[in-house]
Amino acid sequence: MTINKVMVIGAGQMGAGIAQVFAVSGYDVLLHDANDEALDRGIKGIERRLARDVDKGRMTEDEKNASTLKIKKSTKLDDAGAADLVIEAVIENMDVKTSIFRELDKIAPEHAILASNTSSLPITEIAAVTNRPEKVIGMHFMNPVPVMKLVEVIRGLATADDVFETVKETAESLKKTAVEVNDFPGFVSNRILMPMINEAIYTLFEGVAEPEAIDEVMKLGMNHPMGPLTLADFIGLDTCLYIMETLHEGFGDDKYRPCPLLRKYVKAGWLGKKSGRGFYQYN
Ligand code: CAA
Repeated sequence: MTINKVMVIGAGQMGAGIAQVFAVSGYDVLLHDANDEALDRGIKGIERRLARDVDKGRMTEDEKNASTLKIKKSTKLDDAGAADLVIEAVIENMDVKTSIFRELDKIAPEHAILASNTSSLPITEIAAVTNRPEKVIGMHFMNPVPVMKLVEVIRGLATADDVFETVKETAESLKKTAVEVNDFPGFVSNRILMPMINEAIYTLFEGVAEPEAIDEVMKLGMNHPMGPLTLADFIGLDTCLYIMETLHEGFGDDKYRPCPLLRKYVKAGWLGKKSGRGFYQYN
């Protein structure tokens, strides 16, 4: 199966990053968001990052302009009628995702693959609302998408082998490494990462150490590029809470219980870097 035209649903942090890496690799990209402002913000972010790549000598001005021209804006889901691959990157909410997949299933061409960038929700359940569960798959990019090499490719129960192969090859064409995993809560990435972040929040909650100290221990002691609380702020505390809830509910084991401090911060609107405040303050 040949992928030429890719539609990315959601122009937030992840969606814009995904659109960028596809455009840079020569794909025609439709970046969709129902909200015009979010769409413009996403495109501006892409242009800013590509300009930085030019400044740093990683691409020429011509390559930057060619990549930018590859991205077209879309505010109507109907545009999926022209896509070979659709990647949904909206909020981590099952109802929102399933309603988008139901619509996409009606609009997208029969051959089109419908992928979700979900960080923990069951692909099998998303696939079940469509009439093409064999063409539904998880394509989980890591943040920041242009920098991180991994794409976790998640097979739903019904995902066809040729669909998996196409998605794997497509991820590799973006100069990423695709790793195959099965559909289980949190997959591999967040099954391991998020309990570590949650434990760091418990460590703060129980007064074992200050945020800076917790992060310093993990950065200098374990060679992590960012401490877990900085990383949580960077991912978004609402997303971290949602993933912990998915693990807790999915496994039914209290070892995945979200830390009360995480709940409290989210209730306060302290969502991390994007809201200006999380475990740290941002200006
Ligand atoms: N977008 C694009 N490029 C970015 C970027 C962004 N948001 N942030 C940083 N970069 C690039 C910059 O271009 C920079 O290179 P140049 O200075 O040469 O331009 C390079 O990354 C290094 O950046 P910095 O020197 O500013 O900072 P750093 O060395 O600390 O690296 C980092 C930044 C790459 C983000 C690094 O700290 C890191 O790897 N952090 C951990 C990231 C991580 O764990 N991501 C996974 C999150 S979990 C997830 O995504 C899945 C989920 O489901 C929740």
